[in-house]
Amino acid sequence: MRKAALLGLALLTGCGAPIEMDLDAGTAPDAGRRDAGITSRDGGSDAGVDAGLPDAGPRDAGPNHLPVVNATVLQNRATAYAGQIVELALGATDEDGDRLSFTWSGPGSFFENGNPSAQRWFSDELTAPAQVTLTVSVTDGRSAPITRQVVVAVTVPRFLNVFSEVLSVPVLQGGQCVGCHGSMGDYQVAAIQPVAWQQLVGADHHRGQACINAGLTKMVVAGDRQRSLLYRKMTSTQPAGCGDGMPAMSMVSPASPLSYIVTVGSWIATGAPND
Ligand code: HEC
Repeated sequence: MRKAALLGLALLTGCGAPIEMDLDAGTAPDAGRRDAGITSRDGGSDAGVDAGLPDAGPRDAGPNHLPVVNATVLQNRATAYAGQIVELALGATDEDGDRLSFTWSGPGSFFENGNPSAQRWFSDELTAPAQVTLTVSVTDGRSAPITRQVVVAVTVPRFLNVFSEVLSVPVLQGGQCVGCHGSMGDYQVAAIQPVAWQQLVGADHHRGQACINAGLTKMVVAGDRQRSLLYRKMTSTQPAGCGDGMPAMSMVSPASPLSYIVTVGSWIATGAPND
């Protein structure tokens, strides 16, 4: 997936702020921050005033200066399991006050995180660890793009991740499952991980004969996402007779967030281990 967008200097000055560095980020503590703040040079008339409008001011008359782009893409974690969100940001300034555009590319999914210089990213589904290289290119629209790359080590999700980051996240922390599957009904997400695994892998579901006739007999079939009711409901691809997509009453399709689907799908495809 790609994203590109124009950015005014006024927005850029705040680009380091939402990122929290983890100790495991593997980059220098100040990587990415040096130019992220307000510089004395860009406080001029362009900043904020004409954001979004073409600028015919005097700066276009002189020789162009290249954007100054940080050497390192800031990343809040260097290792992530498939579907886990990584926050990325690249600091850049432009002496001429040119608006900078950022184009992020690579496998996986990018979502703008406040402004185009910052992104939230997660991997595609995978069944083996992978080093994923992501690229960002920056241009002032007048000179060749300047590119930077960042590597994320993506691991296969464990059941620990499926249990604690998807199924059993409390509603108040944004969880989407235990609100309905915590206390009542046919399927409850167990309070402890080993029981939660037993309720899923190789376990019968409660959707009845119509769903079984449609080819789905188990909550999770290790190694086979398409025969796993859990995955089919999260992706809203469940056959007729198997009830609704999950979370129920979701207004979107697939019903579950894509990052959750990547985590659960990678875990099932890898054999749904209990770890
Ligand atoms: C708004 C309430 C609600 C939410 C939120 C919700 N569910 Fe459900 N879920 C239900 C109901 C009701 C059923 C039974 C009817 C059906 O299958 O459509 C069900 C059934 C299921 C089943 C089949 C259980 C069985 O044994 O047959 C699975 C699997 C499931 N949900 C997974 C999830 C997951 C995963 C989430 C979170 C991403 C989730 N649900 C969120 C209400 C909800």
